[in-house]
Amino acid sequence: MHLVIVSGTVFGTADLVADEAQSLCESAGLRVSRLRTLTLDALLALESEALLLCTSTTGMGELPEPLVPLFHEMRDRFPLLTARPFGVIALGDAAYGDTFCQAGEEFRELLLELQAREVIPMLRLDASETVTPETDAEPWLQQFIGALQG
Ligand SMILES: Cc1cc2nc3c(=O)[nH]c(=O)nc-3n(C[C@H](O)[C@H](O)[C@H](O)COP(=O)(O)O)c2cc1C
Repeated sequence: MHLVIVSGTVFGTADLVADEAQSLCESAGLRVSRLRTLTLDALLALESEALLLCTSTTGMGELPEPLVPLFHEMRDRFPLLTARPFGVIALGDAAYGDTFCQAGEEFRELLLELQAREVIPMLRLDASETVTPETDAEPWLQQFIGALQG
């Protein structure tokens, strides 16, 4: 199983979580690519079987700037990802109320519109509750790996 991990961050935390995800997935025997150029063509060129998106939320519920072009390209070009397995890890802060983890929610909704298949429910990591999001993500990642391999 070839998994592509896409991460978008402002301060680096989502990338740390993505690093942890890469390490666990590789240890479990998955072939992992990180999307370094955040464009739709780069994503499609990888021809991965599965996708893990890891994003923080900024502003008033906005996507981190590095992910904005990819999101718009996916929405505008609408490449169907029919039945492609995916998972989303959303980093946020519950103190932001209604916009808690909104970037993750929006990307998740877009992937569902593209007919990709969410293998386990989105993980929300709340910065007001934890200072170790990368270790907190581990149980979810183990479930995600199990769902991909099962
Ligand atoms: C200026 C700013 C705006 C933020 N806006 C939101 C928000 O609207 N919703 C949310 O859930 N978290 C929000 N956050 C919290 C971040 O998403 C959270 O701290 C996250 O862990 C940061 O991850 P990063 O280092 O990958 O950017 C905001 C943080 C900052 C500094």
